[in-house]
This record gives sequence, C-alpha cells and structure tokens, in this order.
Amino acid sequence: MKKMNLALSLVALVVLSGCGDKPKSEIVKYKYTPAQVYQDTCSHCHGLKGEGLAEKKAPALTKQSVQELEMSLFDIKNGGLGQSTASEHDVMEHNMKKLAEKGYDYDIKMMANYLHNTFSVAK
Ligand code: HEC
Repeated sequence: MKKMNLALSLVALVVLSGCGDKPKSEIVKYKYTPAQVYQDTCSHCHGLKGEGLAEKKAPALTKQSVQELEMSLFDIKNGGLGQSTASEHDVMEHNMKKLAEKGYDYDIKMMANYLHNTFSVAK
C-alpha cells in the first residue's frame, strides 16, 4: 500500500509539474463558447456584427486577420505585454478577472477564429 501511495504521488507530481509553466487558459474548460462570451460581454461595445460602436470608441473587428485579432486579445488578457497601447482595454483587462470569475473566460485562439469567421469582411 505504501508503495502504491508513493507511485501515486509521483504520478501527481509529474502531472502537476508538467502543467506548471503553462498559462491557466490552456488547461481550464470554458463554460461559454466564444459566441456566447462575445454576445454577452463584447457586443455592447463592438456591436452584434463586430461593426464597432463610435460612442464606445470601440473599433470594428471586421478587418483584422486572425493573427492580428489573436495579438490584440493576447494583449487584452495579459495586461498590455504586447505593443498595442490598449488604453480603453485597460478597463477590459481589469474586468477580465471579474468576467472570468463569472465564467466568461475564453481561449484566445478560439475567440480570434470566432471573430474572424463571423465578422470578417476581408476574404
Ligand atoms: C467597454 C467597451 C468594450 C468592451 C466590453 C469590449 N471592448 Fe474590445 N475594444 C474596446 C475599445 C475602446 C477598443 C480600442 C482601444 C483598445 O484597443 O484598447 C477595443 C479593441 C479591441 C480589439 C482590438 C481591435 C484592433 O483593431 O486592434 C479587440 C480584438 C477587441 N477589442 C476584442 C474584444 C472582445 C473579444 C471583447 C469581449 C471579451 C471586447 N473587446 C469587449 C472596447 C470594448
């Protein structure tokens, strides 16, 4: 039995350390799809069709490539580590924690793909 426990804790150790340096976003399961997250938490600024809303100073999300969207989302979620100034999204970065607590977290790649596939006018 003792051996068994040791073996189990070794397995646990390997599993834990294996995931240790990955950002949390890669191992969590998301409660909502990017579409749901977008409609509930993004569309009131960026518009239901990603057309953007002038009164919220939110840009359209229809012209960016998947890569550009991904980079912007990375910035938003990681507090401006990238090169965008992301001034308005400072607020979003702040809110992101609260949103994540409510289950409105999302995978950056999945969200970028969703935005691009749904809203992009560039083919
Ligand atoms: C409070 C209004 C508001 C909400 C809510 C909001 N955004 Fe934004 N978003 C903005 C503004 C303003 C900008 C432009 C300034 C900036 O980049 O920080 C922007 C910029 C962006 C950009 C970069 C666009 C570009 O051309 O660089 C992306 C991508 C984006 N938002 C995605 C999202 C997603 C996904 C959500 C929901 C999880 C969201 N936004 C929620 C206001 C908002």
